Amino acid sequence: MTPAVVRARKGGEPLVCLTAYTTPMARIVDAHADVILVGDSLGMVVHGLPSTLGVTLDMMILHGRAVMRARPRALVVVDLPFGAYEAGPAQAFAAAARVMAETGCAAVKLEGGVAMAETVAFLVARGIPVMAHVGLMPQQVNAIGGYRVQGRGADAERVLADAQAVVAAGAFAVVLEKVAEPLARRITEAAPVPTIGIGASAACDGQILVVDDMLGIFSEFRPSFVRRYAELGAMAEAAVAAYAADVRTRAFPGPEHVFADT
Ligand code: KIV
Repeated sequence: MTPAVVRARKGGEPLVCLTAYTTPMARIVDAHADVILVGDSLGMVVHGLPSTLGVTLDMMILHGRAVMRARPRALVVVDLPFGAYEAGPAQAFAAAARVMAETGCAAVKLEGGVAMAETVAFLVARGIPVMAHVGLMPQQVNAIGGYRVQGRGADAERVLADAQAVVAAGAFAVVLEKVAEPLARRITEAAPVPTIGIGASAACDGQILVVDDMLGIFSEFRPSFVRRYAELGAMAEAAVAAYAADVRTRAFPGPEHVFADT
């Protein structure tokens, strides 16, 4: 998969996108997904941070390299973290070039609409495919005061303008996070590139979820737009409890796990 192939899927079969942060998970996801996002959500779901704001470029590169070691067939997109690109196009180019050179990924994602359009155009003109991200932008949680649905009522025009600005700037796809269905439909109908929804309805050209959310691994909180396809956290907990009981009763190791003298 390439950014051009993803772009060409506009209006076609919905794009399957998931996050991954490690080599084994990238292998599992790659068997079924079109796009693997090394999202800055890794700050919360892997590193236990309270938000994505503490994620650094080095963390993104470390996990981007781990995902690329799976040699995925899917398009790998790596998030630019908070503070690594907002100062201006030159800073964003330096960060994106480092991410691409050091991980081998084919595209980056950044949050922002009208305010980031110049930066998106600057990157695209210099050979860096950009996936944009509008609607709820978690890196702006302090400015917007929470993780609320974006673009309701009169505010819809603001989110629509954000999407139009990054698409006009050359983004090959745009993530719509936590926007109401009528607005997601409107943006999707107007955009010449795929919209990838997260909490933005089936009207989008594709869907993305944080893999730890849909597998039931991350349980700090559960966004209402997530469907749980497994309860791996609960399974892991039960497995660890069984191991602990076996160790305490000397039921593990068993004879089959013990080395003979010869
Ligand atoms: O960081 C992330 O995982 C994301 C997705 C939720 C879109 O940006």
